[in-house]
Amino acid sequence: MLNKGIQRTRNYAGLGYNSRPFCVAIEPMPATARAQPNIALIKYWGKRDSHRNLPAVGSISITLADLFTTMRVEFDDSLRDDLLIVNGRANEEMLPRIRRCLDRVAGAHRHPARIDSASNFPIAAGLASSASAFAALVVAADAAAGQKHDTAHLARLAGSASGSAARSLYGGYAELENSGDDIAVRCLRSAADWPLRVVVAITALGPKPVGSTAAMEISRKTSPFYSRWVEQQPLDLAEAGNAIAERDFAKLAAIAEHNCLKMHSVMWGSRPPMIYWNSVTLACMQAVRELQSQGVAVFFTIDAGPQVKAICESADESRVRDAFAATSGVKDVLASGLGDGAALIAND
Ligand code: DP6
Repeated sequence: MLNKGIQRTRNYAGLGYNSRPFCVAIEPMPATARAQPNIALIKYWGKRDSHRNLPAVGSISITLADLFTTMRVEFDDSLRDDLLIVNGRANEEMLPRIRRCLDRVAGAHRHPARIDSASNFPIAAGLASSASAFAALVVAADAAAGQKHDTAHLARLAGSASGSAARSLYGGYAELENSGDDIAVRCLRSAADWPLRVVVAITALGPKPVGSTAAMEISRKTSPFYSRWVEQQPLDLAEAGNAIAERDFAKLAAIAEHNCLKMHSVMWGSRPPMIYWNSVTLACMQAVRELQSQGVAVFFTIDAGPQVKAICESADESRVRDAFAATSGVKDVLASGLGDGAALIAND
């Protein structure tokens, strides 16, 4: 009860109510944050508590630098309801998830919000757009509500909206842990410490057939491989953690491809099966295999979508880009370095 009272006091103060004697009146300030998507090298697939969105397995990701979502949040009591604009168009579909997240950040008694989101890459297509969106949302909403929570707290809020979003609060190499009673992320290495490059082959545009949240639950309930997946994950995490600590590219490549293919095997073994790949996805995997046979240090990973992400050292980036561009059916090729975690870019 006491906690609730404290929380409300803080939010009312943050939102500028001055009718309550214990509140300090602060004008609501729109805030804008920017966050980058992250690409998992050791995947999060499955929940141990879907109500609190706690993962069943730990995961390790790299945060990108050049793809990003910019999110502006403004709490405004003249609005009748929350309004979400995505890339310039009103979006009703994402609104319930956004609204729940805002309630967690600013309290359920907050003013309605206008949320403007823009991404410089395709959204809902297996490029982790929900990770960058929720990471940017919690940072912007926290500031717009006049609060200053720390990164660990904001990561918990982002992770309860979308597990992978917790990792985008951190830059470089980040681990979303599967321990303790809440969402926790730690930075394993900075981007500058080991500046790998990521080349993405866009093999299809448009939204994916089944979202990750629903697909994970189907896997948990029906895939005969799910329990082995969960059981083996600590070994994969340890191997990848060591590879990152030692900056051992070959070791990281082997464990990341293995973990990716194992996650997709869990999906393929589910009922109904979840197959996110298309023929161009396979052709891109083959292109990576060919580069590897020519001695290029590169490996692939694929999330819940048809796009192929190739990770390489910067000296090999142009060869990887050329190989994807020459693969029949590839619609576009994007490239990015590794970057920092979500950040507030304006609060006025
Ligand atoms: C395949 O974070 O989108 O990209 O917590 O239900 O929102 P929810 O799931 P989400 O799942 C990401 C799954 C993945 C692997 C990963 O990023 O680790």
